[in-house]
Amino acid sequence: MLNHSAFAAFLAAHPAYQKTQALDDLRRREFARLDDQGQVYLDYTGGGLYAGRLVQAHADLLLQTVLGNPHSQNPTSLAATALVERARADVLRYFRADADEYTVIFTANASGALKLLAESYPFGPDKRFLLVADNHNSVHGIREFARARGAAITYIPLDPDSLRAPDITPYLDPSRSGAAGLFAFPAQSNFSGVQHPLTWVNLARELGYDVLLDAAAFVPSNRLDLGQVQPDFAAISFYKMFGYPTGIGALLARRQALAKLQRPWFAGGTVRLVSTKADLHIMAPDHEAFEEGTVNYLGLPAISLGLSLLDEIGIEAIHERVMTLTTYLLGEMQALRHSNAAPIIHIYGPGDAEGRGGTIPFNVLDPAGHVFPFQLIEAEATAAGISIRAGCFCNPGAGEYSLTHGAAEVRRCAELATQNGHFDLDRYQECLGDKPKGALRASLGMVSNFADVHSLLQFLAGYGDRVAGGEYHLRGC
Ligand SMILES: Cc1ncc(COP(=O)(O)O)c(C=O)c1O
Repeated sequence: MLNHSAFAAFLAAHPAYQKTQALDDLRRREFARLDDQGQVYLDYTGGGLYAGRLVQAHADLLLQTVLGNPHSQNPTSLAATALVERARADVLRYFRADADEYTVIFTANASGALKLLAESYPFGPDKRFLLVADNHNSVHGIREFARARGAAITYIPLDPDSLRAPDITPYLDPSRSGAAGLFAFPAQSNFSGVQHPLTWVNLARELGYDVLLDAAAFVPSNRLDLGQVQPDFAAISFYKMFGYPTGIGALLARRQALAKLQRPWFAGGTVRLVSTKADLHIMAPDHEAFEEGTVNYLGLPAISLGLSLLDEIGIEAIHERVMTLTTYLLGEMQALRHSNAAPIIHIYGPGDAEGRGGTIPFNVLDPAGHVFPFQLIEAEATAAGISIRAGCFCNPGAGEYSLTHGAAEVRRCAELATQNGHFDLDRYQECLGDKPKGALRASLGMVSNFADVHSLLQFLAGYGDRVAGGEYHLRGC
């Protein structure tokens, strides 16, 4: 329910919000199910929501077309190929990428894109892996391919308060740290919402690095313009951008960088020639060598529809809305107080909207500053119809820095909790003692509105003067 006086105060402080009214109309028309069911959705970094029109247009297209497996010359195959190639061209156009410079490899999700790069990148003693601690697990996992090939792995640490990286120049310097190689960072942290500087792309490329930009959490509410910022590789998942369909992501790759990759195997669709007698195979050129088996040819036409919806709404309007709401939410969360004036909310990372996106990690404190178990808050939010996320959000680095778990402590507790090859998560959590084991995360997106944010604030205000007992079973991330 909209609180009119709070909304009026919000509008007076954030007049830019009114410029995004078209999003309220869109929500009424295409997302009515949210308000009909009283859902407060604040998990856009987990997944975007789909407009009804997108599902309908996709269903219409499938019902009116006969589509066969692509890669053949029959009519149904050609029809599918045309739609797949249209989706590829639409992705390039949406990201303003020059088709001579970039290509698009369709994958199952951002993790699939990252793994394709991981297994094909020529890591070795002369090509190391450099990454910021603030990364999704699907980027951290690349280190196992690097390690297997004898490459050095270097982490750039975070400042525990701001959750930003320090000056990265010394870490990049190949003369100080050995070889260049692959440098990976997220355009926006899925833990803290911090937007790491896109200027790092050129800085690293000029020093001989290939740059992987994990853009999965950035692109749902920010413009990624590959005409302006040119990473060698960028990974995305489309369901995070427009909610539908799941199961499709992409690796956007500079053709020159792609040519450096070495596929560890071949599969249907990736080869021009395979001989069983001569034991040879010849890979197909560029993206074809990376799209393994049959692409999601029924789902891919929905990518074109989703991108055209984003074009129609305007990513700039989404950005504006997300950032005005984020600014407000950050301020109001930090203003929530117990009657002894102690804060109710502890926000991890930046407390203001500068250099960040619409993702806010936090914990709830009692009047004595004790942290409520995030699982309890999550369960009570669920009962109130509020979708927020809890845990460490697959981002162990930002989690470790913000929740102050040190390397020695993590090793000691992991060892203590592992017996006969079995890892006992509860024992591990107990070993970490009183420190918070995870956090909560509210994230905003395409059709977030003031009422969503206000509902969360009211819910959190309900913890005023409540005492965190020790009765909750601790389970972390
Ligand atoms: C920054 C970032 N990178 C990678 C991923 C992995 O995406 P997916 O689970 O779609 O593969 C996510 C998912 O939340 C993410 O936020």
